[in-house]
Amino acid sequence: MKYKITVLPGDGVGPEVMKAALAVLNEIGRLFGVAFSLTTELIGGCSYEKHGVVLTSDTLETCRKADAVLLGAVGGPEWDSLPHKSKPETALLRLRKELGLYSNLRPATVSTHLLENSPLRSEVIQNVDLLIVRELTSGIYFGTPRGYDQSQGWNTLLYTRKNVEQIAHTAFQLAEKRQNGVTSIHKANVLESSQFWKSVVHDVHRSYQHVSLSDMYVDNAAMQLVSAPRQFDVILTQNMFGDILSDIAAAFSGSLGMLPSASLGEKHAMYEPVHGSAPDIAGRDIVNPIGMIASVAMMFNHSLDMPDAGDLILRSIEAALASGYRTEDILKKSEKQFTTTEMTTAIIRSMNKIHKETAVMV
Ligand code: IPM
Ligand code: MN
Repeated sequence: MKYKITVLPGDGVGPEVMKAALAVLNEIGRLFGVAFSLTTELIGGCSYEKHGVVLTSDTLETCRKADAVLLGAVGGPEWDSLPHKSKPETALLRLRKELGLYSNLRPATVSTHLLENSPLRSEVIQNVDLLIVRELTSGIYFGTPRGYDQSQGWNTLLYTRKNVEQIAHTAFQLAEKRQNGVTSIHKANVLESSQFWKSVVHDVHRSYQHVSLSDMYVDNAAMQLVSAPRQFDVILTQNMFGDILSDIAAAFSGSLGMLPSASLGEKHAMYEPVHGSAPDIAGRDIVNPIGMIASVAMMFNHSLDMPDAGDLILRSIEAALASGYRTEDILKKSEKQFTTTEMTTAIIRSMNKIHKETAVMV
């Protein structure tokens, strides 16, 4: 079996974290005896430079044909002044939409080795294990009409029953595999679209009676996330609220560089770190590759049906952290700083060690 993977390194630190991801992928191929057929394409600012557009139909077609897409990051200051429609971020939004990736899964946990790195107190964040399920292809990101002129700017927020039903099913089904709890986060005290969201989620819940469902307003949720995050299992929320709440959750580990994500639809899947292109640190071999590498682990769990490979990657990340490997973003004063390459090598070394130990056990 040969898996087809489309590789989109993108801009800024994207190529560096992708290089780390591909080294890990290569090692999984070797250890598990599977082959990957990789096709690399441009997306975002680098695509604009070469082709004059941020997403070509070739890149899109290659993504459609793949078993999974890996994406680094897009964007950078050199393209900020382009007209809105040519901004690198629009490539990402179009790709999500065209591939029908309506479910965005953003797990937020904190490694025991990084408890002290968080701006939040250890007793608040230890054992946090939550999953944000963010609706990704509708809501205010994609509403029409939209636009701006000299006197006003506007976006519209629309959710159809189908939009809400499908993301609610995703959340309840994932909760069944976790702690059976869903918190639906909205602003139903103010927004009609949120009242609608709330009621559709309750309708879908009838098919999942063994999962508990609670409602929470998004402003309160922002506060609860930093004061009592352990109460959450699965957070189900719309596109924009999910974007904001997932950055708050990044504070648990003290760095956006740690968090992975999966974007799933009926036919396609894409995996990318939650962090952006970080142009200020690009090209210096200092970016944290863990968010990207953990995204590869999610790919093995969700798209390639190789949960053992996913598990091995996550355990190896923990092992590297336990041995003291730290990139700049997760460094405390007295600790030694390692490069992107060194962190990646340490993770791969752990993969070999843990794989050998597990093989002896069975
Ligand atoms: C994210 C990013 C994107 C988003 C941007 C880059 C379009 O912030 O994936 O969280 O807002 O969805
Ligand atoms: Mn974001």
